[in-house]
Amino acid sequence: MKIAVLGTGYVGLSTGVCLSEIGHHVTCIDINKEKIEDLSQGILPIYEPGLEALLDSNIAAGRLRFTTSHREGLKDKDIIIIAVGTPQREDGASDLSYLEQAARDISRYIVERSIIVIKSTVPVGTNEFIKKMIEKECGFPIQIISNPEFLRQGSAIHDTMNADRIIIGHDNKEAAMKIQEMYRPLNVPILLTSIRSAEMIKFASNVFLATKISFINEIANFCQAVGANIEDVALGMGKDKRIGEAFLKAGIGYGGSCFPKDVEALLHTANLYGINLALLKETIRINKSQKELLVKKALHRFGELTGKKIAMLGLAFKPETDDMREAPSINIARSLTKLGAEVVAYDPVAIKNAKGILGDNILFVNAVEEAIWNADALFIVTEWKEFLQLDLPNVLKKMKHPIIFDGRNCFKEDQIRACEFVEYYSIGRPDMIIGME
Ligand code: UGA
Repeated sequence: MKIAVLGTGYVGLSTGVCLSEIGHHVTCIDINKEKIEDLSQGILPIYEPGLEALLDSNIAAGRLRFTTSHREGLKDKDIIIIAVGTPQREDGASDLSYLEQAARDISRYIVERSIIVIKSTVPVGTNEFIKKMIEKECGFPIQIISNPEFLRQGSAIHDTMNADRIIIGHDNKEAAMKIQEMYRPLNVPILLTSIRSAEMIKFASNVFLATKISFINEIANFCQAVGANIEDVALGMGKDKRIGEAFLKAGIGYGGSCFPKDVEALLHTANLYGINLALLKETIRINKSQKELLVKKALHRFGELTGKKIAMLGLAFKPETDDMREAPSINIARSLTKLGAEVVAYDPVAIKNAKGILGDNILFVNAVEEAIWNADALFIVTEWKEFLQLDLPNVLKKMKHPIIFDGRNCFKEDQIRACEFVEYYSIGRPDMIIGME
């Protein structure tokens, strides 16, 4: 099939690349000239494992192209996928301005047989609104499909090629069949729903996962108070198939470009309908407080943090991405510096983006060794593989004080016991003080 994808962010790019990989002819369109020039040469604007190889091979095979021209990109396409961003507005609502612009661009070049697919995360009712907008401008009836995306950054290709489900929200059977046909080579279960249900499935899924994380974080804090171990508790709970093991990892709160924004956006929509989503308000409150937890633990341990050198390992909101949006590291770095601490941070890929947000407030270094040298304490903020494999006894020797605040529970009890001297504070597990009694 001949497919156009509007928007080359995580979702647009991964979708375009994967659809070309399964044999379609895909043209990706973006207004950012520099980005399109880079992509045409196989240069990625983001860090996403596995994406570059597929980008290269599909460009070489002639199935994947990039353009800034809507005329060229939209001409004569069977399917037009909209994957532009819907960022958060000041009031928490989704900003639909990129989507509206995409609709205007499409209406100038769309032909009657083209089906429009909205992948961007949009509030209930948006697909219908965009359909009317395009029909008014182009002057003929069009078919629209709500096809929300469930891929995660850091595993975008895997998640697209091996999705748990594909949701096709439609009001026209023939159009739905065409989209089903487009995805057929993926061999993934497909669920046909109404357009409004599809829009809601995306939000309900994301806010459920965010709530699952806030739930486990709250239980973790409770475990800490009563001497239980959240890792064992989560494992024991997760074995129950009704609960499931995924997304029960306690930590320092969820971040990224999706959960924080989508929880706020759903609350905003609910408000418009006079619905009180009380549980979601707690999800947000718990998450905010969880982002401060490591600093609170350090304050409790040290009394004050003025003049303390804190080594911070990890900046990205999660491993395998350079994305800093809503990363807990931002809150932690700002709180620490406000309290007079000196923060020296290292991340394998996110330093460039972190500099744009944290500026000169903290020092950025290029290796773990530089960060930990002479540090009063070590904060582990992102669970990069590189940090899970640290030679802890060696790390601790290089620090001024062997004190670790682990926000991601990277180490097991026996790894800590194997250290000669250490104070180890983690999330929802008993504190461990070794060799210093
Ligand atoms: C999330 C969803 O998982 C995707 O299904 C969805 O498509 C995407 O949002 C989106 O709407 O575009 P993503 O934000 O890439 O994906 O990252 P996740 O892997 O879901 O992690 C989000 C945050 O939750 C991270 O800060 C992570 O550290 C945290 N998390 C995740 C936990 O604290 N504990 C867990 O058990 C899992």
